This record gives sequence, C-alpha cells and structure tokens, in this order.
Amino acid sequence: MLKYFLCLLILVAQSLVASGFQNPIKATDGSDPFVVYHDGYYYLTTTTWTNIKITRATTIAGLKTASPKTIWTDSTSSRCCNMWAPEIHWQAKEGSWYIYYSAGTSGTFDNQQTHALKSSSTNIWDSTWSYASRIAIPNRDVWAIDSTVLVLGTTRYLVYSSWDGSNQCLYISKMNSATSVGNTVKISTPTYSWEKVGANVNEGPAAIYHGGRTWIVYSASNCAGTGYTLGRLELTGSDPLNANSWTKYANPIFVSGNGNYQPGHNGFFLSPSGNQIWNVYHANAVTPGTCDGQRRTMIQQVNWNSDGTPNLGSPRSLSDNVSEPV
Ligand SMILES: *[C@@H]1O[C@H](CO)[C@@H](O)[C@H](O)[C@H]1NC(C)=O
Repeated sequence: MLKYFLCLLILVAQSLVASGFQNPIKATDGSDPFVVYHDGYYYLTTTTWTNIKITRATTIAGLKTASPKTIWTDSTSSRCCNMWAPEIHWQAKEGSWYIYYSAGTSGTFDNQQTHALKSSSTNIWDSTWSYASRIAIPNRDVWAIDSTVLVLGTTRYLVYSSWDGSNQCLYISKMNSATSVGNTVKISTPTYSWEKVGANVNEGPAAIYHGGRTWIVYSASNCAGTGYTLGRLELTGSDPLNANSWTKYANPIFVSGNGNYQPGHNGFFLSPSGNQIWNVYHANAVTPGTCDGQRRTMIQQVNWNSDGTPNLGSPRSLSDNVSEPV
C-alpha cells in the first residue's frame, strides 16, 4: 500500500514538474531566437553563425534538452558565413515552410543579405531544406538583415533592418511571393536616446497582432554594451508601405531586469490553443553585454494592458517556475 502511495506521489511530482519550466531555454548559443508552434511541436532556432539548426519538442521544458538538428550549411562564398537570425514561416500560397536568415561572406559583416530556404514538405522536422533564393530588394539591394514576415489579411510584407548612413533602420517591402518583394520603404530610424546607446540601431523586427491592432516590436541600440532593449511601432494608418502609417512609442517596452541584461532580438509565437502569445528573446547574464554566443534564450508570456497594448513585463528571474503555454 505504502509502495503504491509513494509511486503515486512520484507521478504527481513528475507531472507538476512537467507542466512548467525555468529559463533559460538555451544557456549559451541562444542569440536571436525564434519559435513557431505547429502540429504538437515547438520549433526553436537561434543564431549559430556557421549553420542553421532547429530544435523541437512537445513542451518548452523539452526544448532545453532536445538535440538540435543541423538543417543547413553552405559553402557558397556569397552566403557561406555569419548565418544570423533564422526564422521559420509558413507561406500558404506556396504551401511550404520558408526559413529567412541573414548571411554573407567570410571575414566581414559588410555583405550580409537576406536569404531563404524552402522545406520539401509540410513537416518542418522531416523536410529536407533547399536553397530558395536571395531576397533582392528592387530599389535598394544592399545590406539587409533580420528579415521577418508581417501578414495583414492576405498580404505579406518583409520587414528587415538595413544601414542608411550612420543609422541602422527598419524597412518594409510587400512580398509578391515567398522569395520576391517590391520596392522598400523606411519605416523607422533611431531617434530616441534609448535607440542610440553605443550605435544608432533599429533591428530584429517581430510582428504582434491583438484586438485588430498590429505592432512591430524591434531591438534598439548596440547589441554590445548596456543599451540593447525592445521598442515598438504601431500600424496606425491604413497603408503599411507608407512610413506615416507607423507610429513609434516614446519609451522602450522591455528592459533589463531580474539578472537578465540587454533583453532583445525577440520573436512572438502562439500557444497550442492559439489563445496566448509568448515572447522568445535573448538576454545577457552580465552587463555590459556582448553580441556573441554568451547570450541566452528566454521565454515568457505576453500580457495585455487595459488600453489593449502589449505588456511584455520584465525579463523573468531564472528561479521562476513558468507554466507551459496552453
Ligand atoms: C520553483 O520550484 C522549485 C521546486 O519546487 C522551488 O524550489 C523553487 O522555490 C520555485 N521557485 C520559485 C521562485 O517559486
């Protein structure tokens, strides 16, 4: 009898542990994270610099111990190196998954551009991935990193970061297909002091939708140092390709806290029910921070303010027990 009782106790304890997780999800090599939930699995990508890896698990806790699978390496000199910020997006029109990432030539970051891989099937994990295309911007085919996809109704937009003089800015282009875009428009320049710590930077855009409203959350300031933080734009006009349609909020939305410094380069993903939005981001364990593999991947839920705007809270303490998304 006692034996059964102890077994039961262990089972209950295990299920309690299994229903939650503690950060970080990746203690190192956790930079520029992105997560998508599909058909029972979370898929996580981060920057590894030399290849593209996917980690998958049925729970967030499971992502901590799952073995990543290397799905892409490339010796083509124009895109061999500095593979940054891969994001996995479903493109319904093409009926395939695409991974958008930044890459360039060896020994310099000056030739970084956006590239896309295409899945061989609708299954992210079982697919083989083939090189689809470089995303060439017709009116401004220069340095372009951190591409993400913004979807409004049936129209897709590519949002990314590019240099304009001494400013690293956000740009948007309409997507004609998963791999071709129209002319680009600049929608955000670093202007506030919190966007100009160490360097004038807007990068790492991530779209978030709620209650009929659309925001682009982005990373501001130099990823090294003390300033990296998240800011946001809201689509307040009707045409996303008109810079005046985007309104920047005067203050950052997510700053250092609870032992996590320079939180940034985030992504948003839906919970299994589709009813919750979660934030995946990286943070430094020390300050000033670095732009390398020391950054850790963190995950926590997005909440909403009474005025309908997103509330990202503070970076959670590593000792917090976080419930799994539902
Ligand atoms: C998280 O759970 C562990 C194990 O039950 C516990 O020791 C710890 O105090 C919890 N952390 C917090 C912040 O409640």
